[in-house]
Amino acid sequence: MQTRFPTKFADVLSAFRERFRTIPRIYRAPGRVNLIGEHTDYNDGFVMPAAIDFYVWLAVAPRNDGKLVVHSVNFSETIEIEIANNNPTRRNHWSDYVQGIVLMLQRAGHSLRGADILIRGDVPIGAGLSSSAAIEVSTGFAMLDILGISIDRVELAKLCRRAENEFVGAQVGIMDQFISCCGHAGKALMLDCRSLEFKLLPLPRNVSLVICNTMIRHELSHGEYNTRRKECAEAVRLLSRVLPGVRALRDVSTADLNRHASVLPPTILKRVRHVVTEDARVESAAASLQQGDLPGFGNLMRESHRSLRDDYQVSCAELDIAVDLAGGLPGVYGARMTGGGFGGCTINLVAAEAVENLKHHLSEGYQRKTGITPQIFVSSAAEGVEEVKEE
Ligand code: GLA
Repeated sequence: MQTRFPTKFADVLSAFRERFRTIPRIYRAPGRVNLIGEHTDYNDGFVMPAAIDFYVWLAVAPRNDGKLVVHSVNFSETIEIEIANNNPTRRNHWSDYVQGIVLMLQRAGHSLRGADILIRGDVPIGAGLSSSAAIEVSTGFAMLDILGISIDRVELAKLCRRAENEFVGAQVGIMDQFISCCGHAGKALMLDCRSLEFKLLPLPRNVSLVICNTMIRHELSHGEYNTRRKECAEAVRLLSRVLPGVRALRDVSTADLNRHASVLPPTILKRVRHVVTEDARVESAAASLQQGDLPGFGNLMRESHRSLRDDYQVSCAELDIAVDLAGGLPGVYGARMTGGGFGGCTINLVAAEAVENLKHHLSEGYQRKTGITPQIFVSSAAEGVEEVKEE
């Protein structure tokens, strides 16, 4: 599907033409919010993200020397990638996301061509809205599409995740890449991260996604995120001794957990309690959405935040303040942290007519309590990666 979006299209087109003196094709891949189901993807569980209408735009035209010449407008920087190099080194740099997916496409057997590429992202960087997944997905989709290779979006999401795990070095799950590939306008996507089966769930038209950036940067490639992953792996090791069928925390029920809590050290028990209850919340949230029960959905968002704060311990003071400020305001169904945590954004599910009041209340209250001016974005659920054509 191709969307008409003239303004940004024109900017990207003219920036590309000025730099590379030729006519490109233009693509864009969205960032995401996660409505519920946090830190469950790498436990084979359930997530419910939506793509947002903030994108990484990518203009591309083929070249004949087997090189990618990639210019980032955001970083005012140009780098070169040799497509034939099958053992590239990580640079700890934005270009790793491009290099990573190029490498994984090659390893998957695609023979790519050289290209001039210009990337311009309007997904805030380091805010937990998956700007990196959007770079991988836009690059991967464009590299295949310009060669006329038909694209299996689920396969592309898997390759983008591998780029992140095996090249960039962040042990993330598949949620961010998946939603950037497979998102649908007006829909949340409930994904089973084990089978990769998904359901699209309509979000009511008069509901907006309000995103509050705490301006505290988060970092996934090291530290606490990987620690949580290790804690979950340790929990699986300990629980599988008493529950032989357990391959991932997805396989643990609340009853199992109550019965076997004593085999887990206290911190690990808390981590497992979050994951097990969060999986159950995603299933209840899907039912709430299907019944149009937004207050019910909002309550589950609130419980999710509490569990992430107290059991999984991935929130921070600023996220808690932003969530508390939204709680109880008229027309705000629910609020919670979204993404990996330790900073980044909150997501608020809000009746359209209540958006202005929430924005005002949040920016004033957050500024007063933290001394930081937050960024507040309003989005609807957007379409996954696509080529964009001029009107
Ligand atoms: C980050 C990762 C995702 C997921 C979330 C937490 O966004 O990229 O794979 O694990 O954190 O839900």
